[in-house]
Amino acid sequence: MSNKTLPRRDLRPEGRNWPLLFAAFIITGGSAKTSTIIMMAVTLALRGYKVRVFDFDHQRSASHIGCAMDELPAGQGTIYDLMHGASLEDCTVPFRYVVNPADAATGAPAEYEEVENLRIVPGSRNVKNFDTETTQEGNEQLITWFRELCDEYEGDDDVWLLDLPASLSKLVVSALIPFQEDDEIVPPVLVTSKEETDLKATFEELAEMRNQQNARSRRRKTAPTIKHIVMAGTPTPGRPDAEGDATVESMTRTYGEHFQLHKVRWSSFVRQQHRRQAPVHAWGPKNAAPIEDYNKLATALGFVDLDNA
Ligand SMILES: Nc1ncnc2c1ncn2[C@@H]1O[C@H](COP(=O)(O)OP(=O)(O)O)[C@@H](O)[C@H]1O
Ligand SMILES: [Mg+2]
Repeated sequence: MSNKTLPRRDLRPEGRNWPLLFAAFIITGGSAKTSTIIMMAVTLALRGYKVRVFDFDHQRSASHIGCAMDELPAGQGTIYDLMHGASLEDCTVPFRYVVNPADAATGAPAEYEEVENLRIVPGSRNVKNFDTETTQEGNEQLITWFRELCDEYEGDDDVWLLDLPASLSKLVVSALIPFQEDDEIVPPVLVTSKEETDLKATFEELAEMRNQQNARSRRRKTAPTIKHIVMAGTPTPGRPDAEGDATVESMTRTYGEHFQLHKVRWSSFVRQQHRRQAPVHAWGPKNAAPIEDYNKLATALGFVDLDNA
């Protein structure tokens, strides 16, 4: 099939000024949210899209993998500073990966390489204070900081990818307020555990959030939308798993009719990208299963390869 026949994503739907928004969100910790954001980020960047990752999680896993925490100038702005009025450019760094780890024996520092087209807003432990801050007098406006950032954006990024923590806190609500129907929440479900139940609860919580937000008069409605669901860690011939097969089957029965389900095969490379501070693309074999699987997701989302389009 030629790229021309594939659906192509409108990067500024309804003529708006800010990029498409994607968030990996499900109310379960350890369910491939960060892995999905990193893999999507690198996949889209390699396809020629200008991508910015926002690390909303105080655990800062995405920032760790993107080398956005070490060897940066003192006073480098983080997502916490961004919430409190610092400029987006001051709170963004290139997304890098480790080519050569630091050598403790010789004292040689680590060597990094930048990923073209990809940048990251580093996470901060201070975001833990966000929920309390929004309840303090005079701070009520803080909840709409991200929507204001979207409204004021004048740059040429194509996509913003949000790595979110696992509960629908005020911080996460603030991230999702600007979501319209063209934007997407992509919940990753690690099929080897109990997360199918959490997916159901995630749908319910998002519906409630949508109602609460839209009960207030706002010129734009909040519409966090799920169209694609990632089933991560699905069994492979080399790693059979009866529970995984059963979860895939059950999810297909429950969600298959209304949502596009995407399998991402289990792979030790995904586990290692965190430790190596390098996305699979940077050091794994080019035909690694997760690269292939996230490429299929990127295509299904309408992100044709701009270099071949
Ligand atoms: N396709 C996969 N194959 C194997 N392990 C995976 C896969 N996707 C995610 N994981 C592993 O699942 C764990 C949780 O992933 P992570 O992305 O950190 O989740 P979260 O951000 O939701 O906490 C990590 O150890 C990660 O390496
Ligand atoms: Mg995470």
